[in-house]
Amino acid sequence: MALSTGSNKIKTAVFISGSGSNLNSLIKFSKLKKSPISIDIIITNNPKSKGLKFGKVFKIKKKIFNFKKKNLAEKQILFELKRKKINLICLAGFMKILSKTFIKNFSGKILNIHPSLLPKFKGLNTHERAIKNKEKYSGCTVHFVSSKLDSGKIILQKKVIINKSETPKTLGKKILIQEHKLYPRAILKVFSL
Ligand code: GRF
Repeated sequence: MALSTGSNKIKTAVFISGSGSNLNSLIKFSKLKKSPISIDIIITNNPKSKGLKFGKVFKIKKKIFNFKKKNLAEKQILFELKRKKINLICLAGFMKILSKTFIKNFSGKILNIHPSLLPKFKGLNTHERAIKNKEKYSGCTVHFVSSKLDSGKIILQKKVIINKSETPKTLGKKILIQEHKLYPRAILKVFSL
């Protein structure tokens, strides 16, 4: 596995709110020579986000923003991202909905990973809803972020089978494993050097 210097790569910010397992997989990917991105900052709305530990492990700057005042938080984030010359945002389990104005500022440069086969099951509790609906398959989707929730152009999807005995927890675990592979693949698809 060749490590790259990161100097000519797309400067990327990853936004998280929770455990950050996708962040971890993106950081590992970013260190490969073939990766078109470097991860330069981690942004969260949640000071208790477990994923923040990866900032420490990999020595990546992290910043916490209080979304109680969303407009202000977004302004501060934009300022920070411009200051760091960030060119791409990867949302990875970020639980806040970004405003139209924010998205406009990074038009075509925000990606998201969602744990369902979009356009099915937008929003929350995707695994519960997929099982309840007696779906045979679910999966994950990497897509561009547009101002409509979970509705931007799809880049890549990965299907998994829903077994008879599946619970939201087992399905979530199964899909998460696929998410860790899909996000890097989607980035390669869009930004391959
Ligand atoms: C993932 O299932 C992602 O698709 C969804 O939130 C979860 C985040 O998991 N948007 P993690 O924080 O990356 O472990």
